[in-house]
Amino acid sequence: MATHSSRTPSYDLENSTSYTPIPDKPAAASAPAGHWRSKKLFAGILVSSFLLLSLVLLSVNQQPDLQTNVNGTNQENFSTPKSIFPTARTSPPSRGVSQGVSEKTFQLTGGENATYSWTNVMLSWQRTAYHFQPEHNWMNDPNGPLYHKGWYHLFYQYNPDSAVWGNISWGHAVSKDLIHWLYLPFAMVPDHWYDINGVWSGSATILPDGQIVMLYTGDTYDVVQVQCLAYPANLSDPLLLDWVKYSGNPVLVPPPGIGAKDFRDPTTAWLTPDGDKWRIMIGSKVNTTGISLVYETVDFRSYDMLDGYLHAVPGTGMWECVDFFPVSMTEVNGLDTSVNGPGVKHVLKASLDDDKNDYYALGVYDPFENKWIPDDPELDVGIGLRYDYGKYYASKSFYDQIKQRRILWGWIRETDSEDDDSIPRTIVFDQKTGSNIIQWPVGEVEELRSESAEFDNVKLGPGSIVPLRVDTPSQLDIVASFEIDKDAFEGTVEANVDASYSCPTSGGAANRGKLGPFGIIVLADEMLSEGTPIYFYVTKGANGKVETHFCADELRSSEAPDVAKVVYGSQVPVIDGEKYSLRSLVDHSIVESFAQGGRTVITSRIYPTKAINGAARVFLFNNATGVSVTASGKIWNMDSADISRFPFNQF
Ligand SMILES: *[C@@H]1O[C@H](CO)[C@@H](O)[C@H](O)[C@H]1NC(C)=O
Ligand SMILES: *[C@@H]1O[C@H](CO)[C@@H](O)[C@H](O)[C@H]1NC(C)=O
Ligand SMILES: *[C@@H]1O[C@H](CO)[C@@H](O)[C@H](O)[C@H]1NC(C)=O
Ligand SMILES: *[C@@H]1O[C@H](CO)[C@@H](O)[C@H](O)[C@H]1NC(C)=O
Ligand SMILES: *[C@@H]1O[C@H](CO)[C@@H](O)[C@H](O)[C@H]1NC(C)=O
Ligand SMILES: *[C@@H]1O[C@H](CO)[C@@H](O)[C@H](O)[C@H]1NC(C)=O
Ligand SMILES: *[C@@H]1O[C@H](CO)[C@@H](O)[C@H](O)[C@H]1NC(C)=O
Repeated sequence: MATHSSRTPSYDLENSTSYTPIPDKPAAASAPAGHWRSKKLFAGILVSSFLLLSLVLLSVNQQPDLQTNVNGTNQENFSTPKSIFPTARTSPPSRGVSQGVSEKTFQLTGGENATYSWTNVMLSWQRTAYHFQPEHNWMNDPNGPLYHKGWYHLFYQYNPDSAVWGNISWGHAVSKDLIHWLYLPFAMVPDHWYDINGVWSGSATILPDGQIVMLYTGDTYDVVQVQCLAYPANLSDPLLLDWVKYSGNPVLVPPPGIGAKDFRDPTTAWLTPDGDKWRIMIGSKVNTTGISLVYETVDFRSYDMLDGYLHAVPGTGMWECVDFFPVSMTEVNGLDTSVNGPGVKHVLKASLDDDKNDYYALGVYDPFENKWIPDDPELDVGIGLRYDYGKYYASKSFYDQIKQRRILWGWIRETDSEDDDSIPRTIVFDQKTGSNIIQWPVGEVEELRSESAEFDNVKLGPGSIVPLRVDTPSQLDIVASFEIDKDAFEGTVEANVDASYSCPTSGGAANRGKLGPFGIIVLADEMLSEGTPIYFYVTKGANGKVETHFCADELRSSEAPDVAKVVYGSQVPVIDGEKYSLRSLVDHSIVESFAQGGRTVITSRIYPTKAINGAARVFLFNNATGVSVTASGKIWNMDSADISRFPFNQF
């Protein structure tokens, strides 16, 4: 299977004119002078004695230093790739594109004429309270999540200098519980010729002996995407503060036929069936076909590209941030990345550069042929299911070996200066439907739940709205289920049911059908001049065919004209006997909503002008014309997460 070694790229090295790589110095990537490059003061440090105690305990529970395999002593004279592409840079039309990475800017919808006088109260309300975000400045993709010696580590694409994309470094934070976070100094900054234009996204692999391998994409000084190897300088350090860039970097350059700007985001590695080699995947494209390249390696320093692709889907364009992992068809726990065999399916995910959404498909992985076959070719990667039907991109999963679960993180973009990562979600195979995954907020988020209120069997006639009492309307965890009166449901047939109902084109919750919409309205004001309905819309044709859609309608979310307002959503499978159930995590400008236990998920980004702070309200509603609906559920106020700098000075 192995073909050519990508270490000897078939570029025309002799005719090289301009590509003279900067000589590699002893690789010491981390701990630049002035660990904290921030220019602003930061919020007061808050840390519980629990954290301090944990760290002390961990520090005495050290293990021997294991960094033997990846310490990069040879390959010093590895000839670096010649650039085969124009190096002239055009003035950037927008963020990222000029460097061959996806658009990092949102165009405002109202055009330049439509501006709104945002007040400081409105703007400060928008900052989330329990989603992870950096202290300030730009962040994008989550990178290399892992668990090590008591801490969850999150790295993230970060611009130390500004609130827009650029100068990408790896921010770093740790958490005991995936909810409260402590910022650490940067893990890596652009400081070598091979990543001087950015330390881009990557993934961690934990080897059986405990070593940690980090592969990431470097953007070279002449804007080629290459893959690089880094590893912790001190594996005994629970905080993994210092990272060493391998002296033989880059370890992979774009192979023949692959564009210099179409080769990024290496995955976590998995073992071959014999267990003697590792495989990694890198997304790319050939013309408009999205593809996934697979490489095999023993030592993470030299690689062989396998013939063909793991998978390719015409028309889907560049695949960024590919992810590939097994899910169990029989068990409830998550699976480590190398697991395969009977009762296992594989999820293949690609972030489509063309439309900025994360698509996945379920299929079967044949490691001998190195092919992944989708269960349903009509729901192939990029043309079928999405992780999230709202604003959610560049996600990455990892296996939490302590709690045996697979956890997913995504990047929630927005139109102003702050970005967040989603609440981490567990991923499992949906054993009831067999045709989708289930995503659910990690259990730890429930630590933030405080006062609660229940509502029980609230009858909602056609066209009704019922307010719910809450204390902290901007920070909520809402769980609600709805039942349509059975007799009315059976007796209702929509003669002209629109077979092509789709949330995005439906016109939102103001479009009334016989069997929907019904659900909740969050971040509404008393007069409902602003509000975001999150709801089910059921269609039932004369042939008895029933479909359920789950939507989030931002059309009336804000009176400001210059923010994006769309209706998100998609179908959600509802099994006979199930109620319609939803859960929404409201955190200021972010609302993450999960239908039917997590079969369909929508993340909304909302910027109200009135429905903020104490003025925000929550309602139940039923805008169906043909049926009454009964609602039950519970609402919790959510505390804020502690997210602050690591208190080094307290040790
Ligand atoms: C790693 O470095 C040490 C010390 O320089 C050396 O003894 C060892 O052989 C190296 N291991 C590998 C795999 O290169
Ligand atoms: C460096 O290159 C020379 C000539 O190609 C080769 O003989 C030598 O083994 C290389 N050294 C290393 C450390 O790879
Ligand atoms: C903005 O204003 C200019 C001049 O009045 C007008 O020509 C243009 O169509 C407006 N653009 C939008 C998006 O309203
Ligand atoms: C990147 O860093 C350079 C040098 O510090 C600075 O001039 C530039 O404004 C930065 N770019 C961004 C987008 O922050
Ligand atoms: C490695 O980390 C441990 C735990 O933090 C620390 O005690 C030790 O001194 C570190 N070793 C080096 C060489 O820095
Ligand atoms: C890509 O498109 C070009 C131009 O249409 C065509 O000549 C070439 O064969 C295509 N490559 C592949 C691999 O399909
Ligand atoms: C229900 O539909 C009516 C008529 O279109 C609309 O005015 C109202 O705002 C809708 N209610 C909700 C909660 O969207």
